[in-house]
Amino acid sequence: MKSTATALLRRLHEQSQTEVMARAQAQFDGSSEEFLTLAEEYDTLAPRLRGRFLETLGLSSEDFESSQGTALSLAVSAETGRFLRNMTLSHKPARILELGSSCGVSTLYFAEALCTLGSGTVVATELDPVKCAQLRDHVRTAGVDARVDLREGDVFQTVSELDGTFDMVFIDVWADTYLDLFKQTERLLGPGSIVLADNMYTAEDAVRPYKQYLDGNPRFSTTTLDFESGIEFTVVVS
Ligand SMILES: C[S@@+](CC[C@H](N)C(=O)[O-])C[C@H]1O[C@@H](n2cnc3c(N)ncnc32)[C@H](O)[C@@H]1O
Repeated sequence: MKSTATALLRRLHEQSQTEVMARAQAQFDGSSEEFLTLAEEYDTLAPRLRGRFLETLGLSSEDFESSQGTALSLAVSAETGRFLRNMTLSHKPARILELGSSCGVSTLYFAEALCTLGSGTVVATELDPVKCAQLRDHVRTAGVDARVDLREGDVFQTVSELDGTFDMVFIDVWADTYLDLFKQTERLLGPGSIVLADNMYTAEDAVRPYKQYLDGNPRFSTTTLDFESGIEFTVVVS
């Protein structure tokens, strides 16, 4: 990865982490010392226990999504980003569809991998105009803008206007919309297409209908990767 992109991603990950911690602390009903102890405990937990842990503290990830005030970046972690990059490098997708791009952290991992491959496009989707402006700025700074096609607006509207087949889809919008959005995206998938969905552990209750739909549908082979926020890894069989 180019050093500019590496430095940019480091800054964006740090910013996102700081924002989430500040918002969590503001919502936490206890002292700063208690908060820091619990934050350390959170880091040591197995990924699949993290969602429940947050919930017992009254800090579910959905609260961050829906809370008022400045919109948070809610970027994927650096580990998840490297996973997305590796998936792209190995699967060599001609077209990636990213559902929920925020200010472009996951987009940067996809686009950078496509630049390395020398082909392919990531269609990024985001509703928030401020985040869209930041995304445009970030992909330009990293020198990967030629690989990114940003569609600003409601993701359901954007998906309804797309055609053709996508080799890879990444779902990272609000967790309670996963199933409806996936159903709308199904017509854009073909045999061998891969669908990755983040937050399967951190928003376990909200994403359950999506998980149950995949588990019960022979068109898809699916498994939850016990990694970071919990990533659903689905392959389209037919
Ligand atoms: C978890 S964040 C995405 C983080 C991003 N993948 C990253 O790693 O930087 C979810 C994003 O989905 C966007 N979003 C939520 N509902 C949407 C909708 N109906 N249409 C478009 N974007 C939406 C939010 O504005 C938010 O920026």
